[in-house]
Amino acid sequence: MRLLLADTPPERYACDLLALPVAEPGALVGEAGDVDRAVGGRLAEIARAEGFSGKPNRTVLLQCPDGPVRRILLVGVGRDPTPERLRRFGGTATRRARDLRAARVAVTTSAGPGAGHPPEEWARAVAEGAGLGAYRFDRYRKPEDGADVVETAVIARRGDRKALERAIAAADVAVRATGRARDLVNEPANVLTPTALAEIAREIAASAGLDCRIIDLDEARAMGMGLFAAVAQGSAQPPKFIVLEYRPDGAKRTVGLVGKGITFDSGGLSIKSADGMKTMKGDMAGAAAVVAAMGALRELGVTDRVLGIAAATENMVGGAATRPGDIVRGLGGRTVEITNTDAEGRLVLADGLAFAIRAGADELIDLATLTGACVVALGDWTAGVMGNHQPLMDRLLAAAAQAGEQMWQLPLYEEFLEAMRGEITDLRNSATGREGGAERAAAFLGEFVGTTPWAHLDIAGPAFAESAPPAPYLPSGGTGFGVRTLLRYLAPSK
Ligand code: BES
Ligand code: ZN
Ligand code: ZN
Repeated sequence: MRLLLADTPPERYACDLLALPVAEPGALVGEAGDVDRAVGGRLAEIARAEGFSGKPNRTVLLQCPDGPVRRILLVGVGRDPTPERLRRFGGTATRRARDLRAARVAVTTSAGPGAGHPPEEWARAVAEGAGLGAYRFDRYRKPEDGADVVETAVIARRGDRKALERAIAAADVAVRATGRARDLVNEPANVLTPTALAEIAREIAASAGLDCRIIDLDEARAMGMGLFAAVAQGSAQPPKFIVLEYRPDGAKRTVGLVGKGITFDSGGLSIKSADGMKTMKGDMAGAAAVVAAMGALRELGVTDRVLGIAAATENMVGGAATRPGDIVRGLGGRTVEITNTDAEGRLVLADGLAFAIRAGADELIDLATLTGACVVALGDWTAGVMGNHQPLMDRLLAAAAQAGEQMWQLPLYEEFLEAMRGEITDLRNSATGREGGAERAAAFLGEFVGTTPWAHLDIAGPAFAESAPPAPYLPSGGTGFGVRTLLRYLAPSK
């Protein structure tokens, strides 16, 4: 779907569907009032007849066969709408447009005075919602209902044109990167093997001006990445430790992004239940977010050097698989007793983080579908944030809030690390009991970052949508969670 900026009065914009956000209590004021007058008050009349109150997600549809606007959709955005509400409005507009087979859509970007945010922020939110809502994964079956939206015009009549253009362009980049991450997560594990992910990373690098290095099992082992190797050794599919590098001129610091890339997590010999394995093709969502975000950095003019690491391997069973009780050594020399082969994410991430530091990262962010415990703690739609550097976590949380991605900080108290200390090794990869599982996993990772500022995002909940997502711009399956936060974080002025 194409996103474009327009400044035409909405009632005159020729399109198949015009969507207007309306705040509670549902009065048609501002642009919605103009549109209502242009159709002789029929919009207000039907809204009244249907008891439309502007409550979130309530809609009213008016057919206008003879006007330049073929249909008008009112969408409730609640009292005191926020940019996130407008993002959801954008998603609703696209979803309804598809159902109605409306190919050309227009959306307005203001449901009131817009206090607290500049016009470009509202426009960006609507554009993101509209673009994200257009996603579908139809590579294996063409959908029977609806038709794709071809173009959405984002109508913004106030504000600086240059700033608005930049906002729509940034939304477009974020939408495409998120779509790419969603595709990677939705591809099944028989298609998206570590080798396939490495090939895609290579293609992205070639088209986005990144360096790309792929490290295979032997090399990883020779380099000392014994934790990554231990997870990989039971699979028929060869693992790939993927390193992307974005190096703009004049960069003053290096941000290291590290993604958990388990293309399928069976649990290994500590095998999962059939039910627990069902969505485990999505256990590479952290890596997907990293690879997709890396592909967008040049377009956004990011000024830092950024390393993107995807530690990609399956976690399988077999004669060569790691056994519970095996002792291995990570990059940097720490010994780990693998007490549970299903706690594999922290193993591949530990080597990924240690690698990133050796490659010059001054700051680290990792993304991982790491623990079921984080989902129990925070629910399906919120990522846990943990780390060793409060200012970094605060900046990430601020970027997430702007992006509309829900994140919540969890503590890293001393006792969480104590639980991860080994009896005969430096560390063990799983503790006794299930208490504080997300924090314990993070405490384990913290042992591999030293004093480098580091933030860990446990995205086990929001990376993959099994139940109905809370926002209309989120699909079921892979959500691309994390991409938009990373891009806001790395390109704050865009
Ligand atoms: N990939 C899983 C975590 C997960 C669970 C992601 C549910 C998404 C949805 C991870 O590798 C895992 O199995 N973790 C174990 C850790 C335990 C063995 C210490 C868990 O959460 O049970
Ligand atoms: Zn696991
Ligand atoms: Zn896993």
